[in-house]
Amino acid sequence: MKGIILAGGKATRLYPVTKGICKQLLPVYDKPMVYYPLSVLMLAGIKEILLISTAVDIPRFKQLLGNGKDLGLKLSFAVQKEPKGIAESFLIAEKFIGKDSVALILGDNIFYGHNMGEFLKNASTLTEGGVIFGYYVKDPQRYGVIEFDKCCNVISIEEKPKNPKSNFVVCGLYFYDNQVIKIARGLKPSKRGELEITDVNKVYLKKNKLKVNLLGRGYAWLDTGTHDALIDASIFIKTVEERQGLKIGCIEEIAYRSGYINKKQLEKLAKGINTDYGEYLKRVCLDEK
Ligand code: G1P
Repeated sequence: MKGIILAGGKATRLYPVTKGICKQLLPVYDKPMVYYPLSVLMLAGIKEILLISTAVDIPRFKQLLGNGKDLGLKLSFAVQKEPKGIAESFLIAEKFIGKDSVALILGDNIFYGHNMGEFLKNASTLTEGGVIFGYYVKDPQRYGVIEFDKCCNVISIEEKPKNPKSNFVVCGLYFYDNQVIKIARGLKPSKRGELEITDVNKVYLKKNKLKVNLLGRGYAWLDTGTHDALIDASIFIKTVEERQGLKIGCIEEIAYRSGYINKKQLEKLAKGINTDYGEYLKRVCLDEK
């Protein structure tokens, strides 16, 4: 399975913060935002990843992540010229995806919870259809909203409805079979001029090939779309990391513990970082677990 991180857009809701730098490079506590979605794909066992962003921002992502070799990954980059929707990713990434299935994660999505690795690995075994994730929120009208029947079967998904049919919304993490390219090709832009990911999900739903996994109350799916949400996410990460002395979304640690890199390579990465983050990596090197 291939992986895509979509890190485009203008993030005008964060202006003036995002006037000079893209949102997904902003810090969430001790690391750049993009580390969190990257760590999710890594935990799913995905090593070939395409990052899609604007032409201006791609050199910055390259500076941050390189070609992924240091993390045992194969990273490549592609430009989305205009913010024309999440589903456009599959058209931009067509060559990259080839004949594979694909996971797409939005570059500003932060997931945290027990056994994440396991359920992500399960989703990545998909060979047919689509797997998406639902989460209960208090403001569903801002998202794709999932409607269920009495037996908990999904009956509809609506993008940003005025009158949401439930509080369960679609998270920014999607696993699809190779059909997604064909489906994306057949989409028409919505009223906001975008190729909607919700329209992709509707096609899979109609074919009875969409699985919705609900993330329970023990999971955190954090928003970073406003100034308040951004600082709240930082405080959440800081609180958990400080209490446990363990890091969330630490891509170097995940690469090491997943066996993508060895201890020597991790030591090398740790040496280049003269902060608590680097000290943490040095501690991971000493940990024989
Ligand atoms: C997008 C999707 C929406 C989904 C959300 C998750 O919203 O269109 O269905 O629930 O991501 O973050 P947008 O970022 O385009 O507002």
